[in-house]
Amino acid sequence: MRGKRLQQIRTTADLERLRGSLLQKGDPGKILIRICNTGCRARKSAKVIEAFENEVREQGLQDKVEIKKTGCHGFCEMGPIVVIEPENIFYCRVKPEDTGDIVSETILNGGVVERLLWKDPDTKKFIKCEKDIPFYKKQKKSISFNCGRIDPTDIEDYIAGGGYSALGKALTTMTPAEVVEMVVASGLRGRGGGGFPAGIKWRLCSAAPGNIKYIIANGDEGDPGAFMDRSLMEGDPHSIIEGMIIGAFAIGARHGFIYVRQEYPIAIEHLSIAIQQAEECGLLGKDILGTGLDFTIKIDRGAGAFVCGEETALMISIEGRSGTPRSRPPYPAIEGLWGKPTVLNNVETFGNITKIFSKGADWYSSIGTDNSKGTKIFSLVGKVKNTGLVEVEMGTTLREIIFGIGGGIRKGKRFKAVQTGGPSGGCIPISRIDMPVDYDSLREAGAIMGSGGMIVMDESSCMVDLARYFIQFLLFESCGKCIPCREGLKQMHHILTNICEGRGEHGDIETLTELGRFMTTTSLCGLGGTASNPVLSTIRYFRDEYEAHIYDKKCRAGVCKNLFEYYIDEELCNGCTLCKVKCPEGAITGRKKKPHMIDPQKCIKCGICYSLCKLEAVRVR
Ligand SMILES: Cc1cc2nc3c(=O)[nH]c(=O)nc-3n(C[C@H](O)[C@H](O)[C@H](O)COP(=O)(O)O)c2cc1C
Ligand code: SF4
Ligand code: SF4
Ligand code: FES
Repeated sequence: MRGKRLQQIRTTADLERLRGSLLQKGDPGKILIRICNTGCRARKSAKVIEAFENEVREQGLQDKVEIKKTGCHGFCEMGPIVVIEPENIFYCRVKPEDTGDIVSETILNGGVVERLLWKDPDTKKFIKCEKDIPFYKKQKKSISFNCGRIDPTDIEDYIAGGGYSALGKALTTMTPAEVVEMVVASGLRGRGGGGFPAGIKWRLCSAAPGNIKYIIANGDEGDPGAFMDRSLMEGDPHSIIEGMIIGAFAIGARHGFIYVRQEYPIAIEHLSIAIQQAEECGLLGKDILGTGLDFTIKIDRGAGAFVCGEETALMISIEGRSGTPRSRPPYPAIEGLWGKPTVLNNVETFGNITKIFSKGADWYSSIGTDNSKGTKIFSLVGKVKNTGLVEVEMGTTLREIIFGIGGGIRKGKRFKAVQTGGPSGGCIPISRIDMPVDYDSLREAGAIMGSGGMIVMDESSCMVDLARYFIQFLLFESCGKCIPCREGLKQMHHILTNICEGRGEHGDIETLTELGRFMTTTSLCGLGGTASNPVLSTIRYFRDEYEAHIYDKKCRAGVCKNLFEYYIDEELCNGCTLCKVKCPEGAITGRKKKPHMIDPQKCIKCGICYSLCKLEAVRVR
């Protein structure tokens, strides 16, 4: 796409004409190969693409086959993913050397390469089409629909699929006030954390006095394990830009920023290309669509501090100062970037805006629950079988997400809990597996939606150790400006480390609870304000684990090394010798075909025997 001269789009008629000619140019008889060229690059998808290009050239198939480099297909666990249209054939874990077979079997002969299809672990059957795989079948792809379908570096591909028509509708058939009220009517709540109603924020900002206003898209995404915002920026950057231009029109902004962390090079690359192409077409810059709207967007790179995702710290960072939060009020909608009224929304929120103006507020508000409208993208990770990017209707149950889409827990283990909302989210136990996932239910359960991280844990996860992990993360990421967060996190980490290392004392649980409540009510920003969630939620649902650590000096999950030992269950061991051979300390003894034993004096608890034994004869006590 780069290097191609783009057509000027001065009016909505130009836009529709261009869309018409693009659709006409497209050859419906052509076979389309869609390949993930973003996250899957880590698994050599670029080499797969190159191999396909060579194969197609060598076979003289250029007129019959189109290769499209797309964003994330969602089922990242199975990457690199290749989908062949129109038959929707789904190939996974494709290597460069597989491309020859795909071209000869599928492209030339219309067959399938069975070994590359997804195999259902329950039925052991191969599934041919992407749409029939449970991981996809049970989702409702709306905001992430284009990811994995369009070439994110080609504005024309976005336009051909209906892109920028939402902008055309908003700018040419509505007033700014009507745009704001449509966002209010849609019921959209911000996807970046707190779930604040987007329309109310826009209304406040548009009513704020002043001629200079700003729009900011927050793509900082610092939560460990989260990648929904990255995937959207990489796979469908124009949907964010389109939402931002609509926002600029609504509040009267002439300049916008997208804040992205430096660790997201593909997101930065694709957003930069998208902005440049939108400028070249005239969709950014002066007199957009002939309406008199002037609007530009710049990318601002963050250095990767978690706290810079917090809105006031983020704006200070854009201003060129060290990103630390400031107290609110004044809220950014009234006094934001350089002291001017600013709408700051998460990138996924802007993706939702584009959908609302494309399909209507009524359509949008018909999806989801009473107080949580639309769909939500989650990054589903941890001990679940199918990890990846998942989009579901608000109100879908945890069970449906973890077992229906995620396929349940790996290695036949039992589900224990799910951490939602990132490091300052909370842990939800199995007893609440049937709860609907929406803002209010999650909050009532002691967790938060956050920006959509979902980490699944099984019986081998220690909940005290998990709380310690998140508190350590937050301790490192706290800017240290206010005492409750800075000192509270230090104390919490100290107490949790003591508990995990066998020095827990009577009263520790109460101290943690009190500290948590104090930090929640007195910290300056949301980092300290929500930091105790992992501790308070694990105490609420897994108090017995804390008590076992403190009073019995036992970690039943076998994670806290001072608090358990490995042993071999004689009844289960068949004496295969595998553990004995691999034990680095020679701590395991036993004759072939006879039960083995572990010498606790020599065992260093490396866990090698535990993970190797296929009969689960190595146990924890
Ligand atoms: C420590 C901290 C980190 C945050 N990180 C992010 C982030 O990475 N992305 C994001 O959109 N919001 C993040 N937020 C929330 C933002 O402050 C802000 O509420 C949000 O971007 C507003 O957008 P929304 O209304 O569309 O959700 C963070 C908040 C805190 C306290
Ligand atoms: S709560 Fe933590 S991160 Fe926020 S200002 Fe205070 S010290 Fe900094
Ligand atoms: S690997 Fe398992 S079955 Fe084999 S000897 Fe060790 S404990 Fe026994
Ligand atoms: S990154 Fe390739 S499928 Fe998700």
